[in-house]
Amino acid sequence: MSKNPVSRRQFLGYTLTGIGGFMAAGMLMPMVRFAVDPVLQKKDGGDFIVTAQKVSELTNEPVRVDFSFEQVDGWYTSEVTNSAWVYKDGDTVIALSPVCKHLGCTVNWAGDSAHPEQFFCPCHLGRYEKNGKNVAGTPPLGPLDQYEVSEKDGFVMIGKTIANELV
Ligand code: FES
Repeated sequence: MSKNPVSRRQFLGYTLTGIGGFMAAGMLMPMVRFAVDPVLQKKDGGDFIVTAQKVSELTNEPVRVDFSFEQVDGWYTSEVTNSAWVYKDGDTVIALSPVCKHLGCTVNWAGDSAHPEQFFCPCHLGRYEKNGKNVAGTPPLGPLDQYEVSEKDGFVMIGKTIANELV
């Protein structure tokens, strides 16, 4: 029976394998981390964005409110600007998406002088009532989406879009 259960050759092989594995892990870890990092990032889903619109200045006439936020798409972060049509219905703040439900153009309040109390889509003459309900006989087949709304320090906060609950 040998006094050395591990020969010098085996010891050298084990040592080199260990060092090689350690170095390979050191090189692979950053690559794996880079590949899965966006998946591991904490998402701020459902967060509200503060706008420059004061709640106290809102009336029952819709006004366009622009707001910006950072959009993360994989590893690419970009600044996106969106807008909402915001008005008061009694004490309730309503925010409607300006995206036409026909083919996605942008609707304007009172954009058609023949229908000054409606939203108007200039692309194919689509119309919506003030609560976002699509006017029958015009191209859109559904109501404008609504935004979740909140308030912070007297300013309107816009959340995610939801199905129109007013119609
Ligand atoms: S995109 Fe608005 S009516 Fe067609």
